[in-house]
Amino acid sequence: MKISPARIAAFEILTKIETEKAFSSVLLPLYEEKLEQIDRGLCHEITLGVLRKRIYLDKLIEKLTNGKKIDSAVKTIIRIALYQLQFLDKIPAHAAINDAVNLTQRAKKTSAKGFVNAVLRRFTREKPELNFNDEVERISVETSHPRWLVEKWILEFGIAETERLAIANNETPKLDFRFTAKTTEAVKKSLENKSIENEKSFLRELAENGKIYFQEKASQLVAEVVGLKENESYFDVCCAPGSKFSFVNYLSKTKDKLFVGGDLYEQRLKTVRRICENVGAKNYSLLAYDAEKFLPFADEIFDAVLLDAPCSGTGTIRHNPEIRYFLAEKDIAELSLKQRAILQNASKLVKHGGRLIYSTCSLESEENEKICKEFLAENDAFYQVRPNVSENFLTEEGFARTFPQRDKMDGFFIAEFAKK
Ligand SMILES: C[S@@+](CC[C@H](N)C(=O)[O-])C[C@H]1O[C@@H](n2cnc3c(N)ncnc32)[C@H](O)[C@@H]1O
Repeated sequence: MKISPARIAAFEILTKIETEKAFSSVLLPLYEEKLEQIDRGLCHEITLGVLRKRIYLDKLIEKLTNGKKIDSAVKTIIRIALYQLQFLDKIPAHAAINDAVNLTQRAKKTSAKGFVNAVLRRFTREKPELNFNDEVERISVETSHPRWLVEKWILEFGIAETERLAIANNETPKLDFRFTAKTTEAVKKSLENKSIENEKSFLRELAENGKIYFQEKASQLVAEVVGLKENESYFDVCCAPGSKFSFVNYLSKTKDKLFVGGDLYEQRLKTVRRICENVGAKNYSLLAYDAEKFLPFADEIFDAVLLDAPCSGTGTIRHNPEIRYFLAEKDIAELSLKQRAILQNASKLVKHGGRLIYSTCSLESEENEKICKEFLAENDAFYQVRPNVSENFLTEEGFARTFPQRDKMDGFFIAEFAKK
């Protein structure tokens, strides 16, 4: 029973995502490291493809099985095979089907082998079309976003923009990186003439040595908005894993001033330390606390405070396609309570004349504009200022927003307040 290692890896990754709420961005590199070059691409394609098409594939499965209840491992195996049969031209049908049947045996679901084979053969014979009850269902199924999220976005952005957004969420984002304190002139020169997509292994090697750092453009934008002026002290309230913290440090001209970051768990701060050391960040301190409860500092001691808040992450679905299945509508309300409490605590630490920057990687107004408007209504020592970004990112209300469908960037929100 020979099964392609790529399909075994994809099955194991998808199972972990389903059962442990793990992230593909963490699991894929771990599995790919152990695969031969030729299997890596297929494992990547199948894993992300199934995640980006899961609702669509499940609708097909429902139709092919007349709504039969299916064991979750068996369902994952059918999703993997259907994805290949429907979307990958170069895979022979018999290879996808045989491996699916063998994977069923490998997963100790021997009694389901005949069923898996029959469902997949039926698909290749009938190639069924899907019908939808309404436009919302069509967008939800075709783009594989849960119906509640599609409905929510339609209320916020309108139907056409929601469809564009949902389609953009399934596109492969390009690989962004930035320079670090260790980027030499020679490295900058060598990068000038290279096509990024063709030079991934070169980039990976540079990143391993801290000479560049992989960071999405919208995340970089937050650090640029912070843009510390000379001799400003700085506090990053939720700094792990440290992408913005280490970039603000790189951009900063501040010397001998407080440059502090913190997060909920010591374990996450270890990652911040590792990243900061790797990219050559300097003169910083880190500490753990629960920012929702209490921040261990005297009031009004920092010139600039960033709260890059814990959020739903709906702006990062391009990079984390599984997020849409993990989230429930009630999570947004819970997160906004948390965001509101942390923002309030963080604001106390801002000096008179200082700045408070609030950001999320969420597209939801409950986590963004609504939080900021409530904060301003309750804190008259603060007023809103325009974040220093190019005009195209500014909203009518003076916040900064990026969108996958409009900017080919993750969906971030940035607000800036000044303290009187
Ligand atoms: C969006 S992430 C921050 C990303 C980070 N700024 C970066 O650029 O790498 C939000 C962070 O908030 C942290 N967090 C969640 N609840 C917290 C709390 N109550 N107190 C402190 N940090 C918290 C999470 O552990 C997570 O690291």
